[in-house]
Amino acid sequence: MCGIVGYIGTKKACPILLAGLNRLEYRGYDSAGISTIEKKGLSLMKDKGRVKNLSNLDGINELEGTIGIAHTRWATHGVPSKENSHPHQDNSKTFSVVHNGIIENYNELRKFLTENGYTFYSQTDTEVIPNLIHYYFTKDEKNDKQKYLRAVKNACMDLKGSFAIEVISSLYTDNMIVVRKDSPLVIGTCEDEKYLSSDIPAILSYTRNFYLLNDFEFALLTRNNIEFFDKNLDKINKKVQNIEWNSSSAEKDGYDDFMLKEIYEQPKAIRETIGSRINLNSKCEFEELNLTKEYLQNLNKIYIVACGTAMHAGLSGKNTIEKLCRIPVEVDIASEFRYRNPILDEKTLCIFISQSGETADTIAALKLSKEQGSKTIAITNVIGSSITREADYSIYTHAGPEIAVASTKAYTSQVILINILAIYFAEVLEKKDKDILNKLKSDILDLPKKIEETLTCNNQIKNFAKQIYQEKDIFFLGRGIDETVSKEGSLKLKEISYIHSESYAAGELKHGPIALIENGITVISILTDKDLIKKTISNIQEVITRGAKTLVITNQKLDNDMFNVVINIPDTNQFVSPILSIIPLQLLAYYISKEKGLDVDKPRNLAKSVTVE
Ligand code: M6R
Repeated sequence: MCGIVGYIGTKKACPILLAGLNRLEYRGYDSAGISTIEKKGLSLMKDKGRVKNLSNLDGINELEGTIGIAHTRWATHGVPSKENSHPHQDNSKTFSVVHNGIIENYNELRKFLTENGYTFYSQTDTEVIPNLIHYYFTKDEKNDKQKYLRAVKNACMDLKGSFAIEVISSLYTDNMIVVRKDSPLVIGTCEDEKYLSSDIPAILSYTRNFYLLNDFEFALLTRNNIEFFDKNLDKINKKVQNIEWNSSSAEKDGYDDFMLKEIYEQPKAIRETIGSRINLNSKCEFEELNLTKEYLQNLNKIYIVACGTAMHAGLSGKNTIEKLCRIPVEVDIASEFRYRNPILDEKTLCIFISQSGETADTIAALKLSKEQGSKTIAITNVIGSSITREADYSIYTHAGPEIAVASTKAYTSQVILINILAIYFAEVLEKKDKDILNKLKSDILDLPKKIEETLTCNNQIKNFAKQIYQEKDIFFLGRGIDETVSKEGSLKLKEISYIHSESYAAGELKHGPIALIENGITVISILTDKDLIKKTISNIQEVITRGAKTLVITNQKLDNDMFNVVINIPDTNQFVSPILSIIPLQLLAYYISKEKGLDVDKPRNLAKSVTVE
C-alpha cells in the first residue's frame, strides 16, 4: 500500500525517483509526488493519477537537486487528489515527508496541532507528520547536531499505527532521515549514493547491498555515510546484507506484462523453491527449523494463517499435512483469526504465509500467536521482510520478485514449500512409509518439467478467453484439493478481469448456488482428484443440463464430447496437483483481462502489498 522512494547522492534525484516510482507503482497508483532539495528550498510536485502524469508536470525536468523523496499512493484517508498526494509539508515548508502506512491517532494529533496554530490542507493522516516535526523542532531550544533527528524522533514517538517515513528539510541540505514501524523500508547503499525504497526490486538495478531497518530504528543519511539510531537516539551498528536477486528479475524482459512473465517463470521459481530441500532417499532438509519429534507429537493442532492467494496455498498445505502427519490443520484468514480469540498455546504450531512478508493482518495474527505461547513459522518470499523479524522460524520460497498485483509464481512456490514442509514433519514424526514419501519427493522433482508442458495450453486458453471475456458471471467447481484451486482461479479472474465469479465445492452446488445456473453461463471445473472425479462429473452434468458452457481442466482421460473445452494437463501426485491445475486458470484470467483492454499488472483498487488492516 503506497510506495516510497528516496535518493541522496551526486546525480540529479528526479529521474532516479521517477524510475523508482515506476517500478513501485504496483504498490499503489492513484496519485504520485516528489520533493527535492533545491537551491531555493524544497521543491514539491504532485498530482492525482499515475506516475506518468507526474513525469509530465511542467517544471519537473528542471529539478536539479541531488537529494529527494517520492511517493506513489494507494488512498486510505482522503480521495485521490493533488492535495491528498504525498509528499506533505509542514506549514512553513521546511520539512517534506513521504509516508507509507496509517497513523491511527491522526485526529487527536491534528486537533493538538490545530490548537497550536497549524493549518491542514489535506484530508490525509500523513499531514500531521511534517507539522509535528516542525512543532518539536521549533520547541527544542538546544541547537546541537542532533536537533533535526530529535524532532523527527519526537514526532514519531507520538504516532500510533504503522509508518515508513522519509524526511528532507530545507535547513539540512545534505541529509535525509528515515524511520519505520510496521511498514517496509530498505536502504540500498553504494559508495557516495544511497537509495531508499519500500521494497528491494525497485532499486535493484543500482545496488545489491541493503540495510534493513527494524521498527523504530532511525537512519540519518548523507551521501557517503549512514548513521543508525535506536528510539533513544543511541547509535547502533547494522550489517549490510547482500541480496542475490538480479535486476532483470524486476524487469519485463520482453513480456507484455509482469503477470505473463511471472506465469512463465514458474518452472524456474519452483526449481528455486525446491533447491536442496528435497533429496531422494534422505530426509528433507530445513536448516532453518529445529522441530523435534517430541514437539510435533505433542501438537494438538496446526493453524495456517494468511490472506488471499497465500491463504489458498495454505488450503493445499492442510490437505498434505493432515494426510501425511495426521495432525489436524485449520486454515484461517488472518483478518478473522486475529479477532476471533483463537485457541492457542504451546501445543499449537502456527504457520503464516505471505509473499510480501508485509501483510498487516498476517503479521498481527503472528504476533498474537506468539504472545499466546505458540511457535510460529513464516513462509515468505521477501528476505528480511517484517514477518521474518517476528516469526520464530522463517523459510523462504525463493521465487524471485513478484511484481504483478495478481499473485502467480508466489502461489505455486508457496504450495510446493508447504508440501515439502509436510514431508519434513512426516519424516521427523516417522509417520509415513518411506516409499510413499519418496514417490511424492520424486513427483515434486518432476514438477518444473511438467509446468513447462502445462504452459503449452496457452493458445487453447487464449481462444477460450476470446469466447467468454464479455461474460458477467463465471462459476468454478472442484472437490477436495481441486476445490482449493477453483478458489484461487476464481480470485485470479475477479482481480484482474473484474468479472464476478464464485467458487464452490462441487457437492455444495445443489444446496443453493445451482439456482444461478442458466443457459449459456460458463462453469469451469478442475478434475484431478482421482477418487472424486466421478462425483464432480455428476455435478458438471447437472449444470450442463441447465444450459451451462463448460471448461474442464483435468489430468485424466475423459469423455471430451461431454464438455465444451477440455484442457489436458500432465498427471502428477495428488498433493501437488494445484501447481499444474492453476496454470490454465492463471492464463485464463490474464487473457480475459487483455481482451478487455485492462491493466493486467495494476488492477483497479488493489495494491501488491496490503500493509493496512
Ligand atoms: O503478500 P501476501 O502474500 O501476504 O499477500 C496476500 C494477499 O494480499 C495476496 O495474495 C492477494 O490476494 C493477491 N493479490 C492475489 O493475487
